Amino acid sequence: MHEHEHEHEPMHDQPPSHRHGSTRTFVRLLTTPLRALSRRRRSRFAPLVLLLLGLAITGGAYAAVAPPPQAEASTGVASASIKEGRQLYLKNCSSCHGLNAEGTSDGPSLVGVGAAAVDFQVGTGRMPARQDGPQIQRKRVEFTQDEINAMAAYVASLGPGPAVPDKEQLDYADADAAEGGAIYRTNCSMCHNFAGKGGALSRGKYAPSLDGVSPKHIYEAMLTGPQSMPVFGDGTMPPEDKKAIIKYLKITEQEASPGGASLGKIGPVTEGAVGWLVGLGALIACAVWLGAKAR
Ligand code: HEC
Ligand code: HEC
Repeated sequence: MHEHEHEHEPMHDQPPSHRHGSTRTFVRLLTTPLRALSRRRRSRFAPLVLLLLGLAITGGAYAAVAPPPQAEASTGVASASIKEGRQLYLKNCSSCHGLNAEGTSDGPSLVGVGAAAVDFQVGTGRMPARQDGPQIQRKRVEFTQDEINAMAAYVASLGPGPAVPDKEQLDYADADAAEGGAIYRTNCSMCHNFAGKGGALSRGKYAPSLDGVSPKHIYEAMLTGPQSMPVFGDGTMPPEDKKAIIKYLKITEQEASPGGASLGKIGPVTEGAVGWLVGLGALIACAVWLGAKAR
């Protein structure tokens, strides 16, 4: 056993990038002492030595193969701000979401909702919630982006959840707008209307207009599914599709309406029908009114 020990030593000194390449040598180095040991199986300590050796091998192999820890990479924000974020959270959010974000009867738990949910909810002014009603709405944003980042870092530190999308995820310049339109019509238009003008849902709720919503908040809404909106995680909707939707929305938003009010851009047939019904309705109302006066 002893004469083989120094053969192991060099393994530890190798830089991590070389470890994979040397797997075959590694295996050969390990099997040699094993074979030597099994030849002397009679020894009383052989089973124990084999066991310890086995444990050492598994541990070493795991350390070589396991991915490096990625603490801050997933939140996208520095850990220094977690403390500041917790202070802001305690002051502004804990009354509804609980002292440890465990949730109360006035607000859901925020453990595991991720930095993206906080950035979306506070960044669009929905949080801190104020009014009662069927749906919490956009309002004036009450915090600076630094404060929002700090609270997002604090919430992200409580449990893994979707991170705030980075620059690369938001770069939709090369995305395919036509494909984005198709994906949008399958997944979003039933609630938000064909051109993103918004629409009513049941029980006094509504899907808001998407005009003027920043690409980051559109992306985060898909990642986190606020209120009655479903979550479109990267598994069901890959980042490329999200970018394509954003590009489509940004292009439709810029389209002018040469014919006056766009009527939600539902199409020429509907626009004609509205003109016909409203116009004709007004004429009939006039006729009835005149008829009633004449009597
Ligand atoms: C008056 C109570 C109240 C306050 C104050 C409040 N919230 Fe909320 N919050 C709610 C309620 C209620 C919901 C659930 C809305 C829904 O889904 O219908 C919510 C939802 C959220 C969500 C979405 C959770 C998810 O599952 O995606 C986040 C994130 C959030 N709040 C963060 C905050 C932060 C950060 C603050 C402080 C700046 C804050 N809230 C202050 C009541 C409150
Ligand atoms: C089942 C209906 C439904 C579907 C489908 C849906 N949404 Fe939503 N969406 C909502 C509702 C309801 C809200 C408002 C949530 C809130 O106020 O917290 C919303 C909010 C949003 C917002 C935030 C707008 C703002 O004013 O801040 C964006 C952006 C958004 N949705 C994008 C999308 C996209 C993109 C899709 C398709 C991939 C989609 N939604 C699919 C119902 C839906």
